[in-house]
Amino acid sequence: MAIFVTGGAGFIGSEFVRQWVRRYPSQLIINFDKLTYAGNLENLSPVENHPAYRMVRGDVAEPEDVRAALPEDCDAIVHFAAESHVDRSILSAAEFVRTNVLGTQVLLDAAREKRVRRFLYISTDEVGGSIPPGQYFREDSPLAPSSPYAASKAAAEHLVRAAAHTFGLDAVITRTSNNYGPYQFPEKLIPLAIANIRRGKPVPVYGDGLQVRDWIHVSDNCRALMLVLEHGKPGATYHIGGGHELPNLELLRLLLKIMDAPGSLLTHVKDRLGHDRRYAVDWSRIRNELGWTPEIALEEGLRSTVAWYDSHSDWVERATSGEYRTYYERVYGMQYAQRQN
Ligand code: NAD
Ligand code: TYD
Repeated sequence: MAIFVTGGAGFIGSEFVRQWVRRYPSQLIINFDKLTYAGNLENLSPVENHPAYRMVRGDVAEPEDVRAALPEDCDAIVHFAAESHVDRSILSAAEFVRTNVLGTQVLLDAAREKRVRRFLYISTDEVGGSIPPGQYFREDSPLAPSSPYAASKAAAEHLVRAAAHTFGLDAVITRTSNNYGPYQFPEKLIPLAIANIRRGKPVPVYGDGLQVRDWIHVSDNCRALMLVLEHGKPGATYHIGGGHELPNLELLRLLLKIMDAPGSLLTHVKDRLGHDRRYAVDWSRIRNELGWTPEIALEEGLRSTVAWYDSHSDWVERATSGEYRTYYERVYGMQYAQRQN
């Protein structure tokens, strides 16, 4: 038994790897990651010496890298690797197309060649575009992405479905709402806000701050991903929602309350270009078919997340200064070179 995870050094991928190793300590898990600015091997320090865990540095858009790392007859590819930040995709979309679209096709080709048994593609609620109040994006609703990031994720979804239809690949797709929790890179709203609030710095609120997102704790999401991987129907798409839909301003006010900080830190800034007003998924399928529901209430999850960032100020410091990028060479370089020889 072996699973091949891409992007396992990122925020959600690393939570998935940590959960998987705890649950299946004797199954080989290969983490294939390019270690871009978003890949932080410190996120995997709890498992880095585990005998079932292996790290391979490589690029999903490079067929040779993938071919060399992917074993024959692997049980599953769990494909997280992506450029994931909307603001960066607005500044420059090329890397999003390369990694998110081309990289997914490279993995699909390799999955066929090496007879991988199941392909799980980690997509996002953002492929549905902005949803009017009172409506919900369903698994069979048409895709209508509006940011370059969301467009690249939607394009990859089409390629996954095409591979399933044309070649009979056993592929499943998940679309999750906004994740939060420990180890999230401090460019995303919640960790950025926590870092700024702790330093007494302004928290940037894009536009009027009334954009609505549905927040889910990353550990609830990864529990859902494992269920889909193990029990999801071939070819199916599953929405995963947090059940905590609220405008950004309300979320930030809750965070200020938890952190006992003044409202004056909230600072309205120029809105994101093309900013989607609301994402909302109907996730009744996963609840009805697989019996999953989120377990972590938003306030409880935010409190534990704030506590995690407070007790990991060194992680935040290294993530913001860029020092984390030397971790591979310092700790892993030699160790993995030796293990692979
Ligand atoms: P992240 O940015 O924290 O991590 C991405 C990881 O992918 C990093 O480890 C990075 O090094 C790796 N990577 C990037 N380009 C690569 C390449 N060319 N080859 C190999 N590895 C590469 O992202 P995240 O927030 O953990 O998101 C993981 C997945 O979940 C993404 O596919 C994202 O679209 C999806 N998703 C995220 C959210 C969210 O709220 N964060 C919500 C829904 C879906
Ligand atoms: P983000 O964490 O970037 O996730 P996404 O854009 O994928 O939903 O942003 C969450 C929401 O917060 C989104 O509506 C944009 C907004 N936002 C701010 O208001 N200020 C910020 O500094 C950031 C990073 C995001």
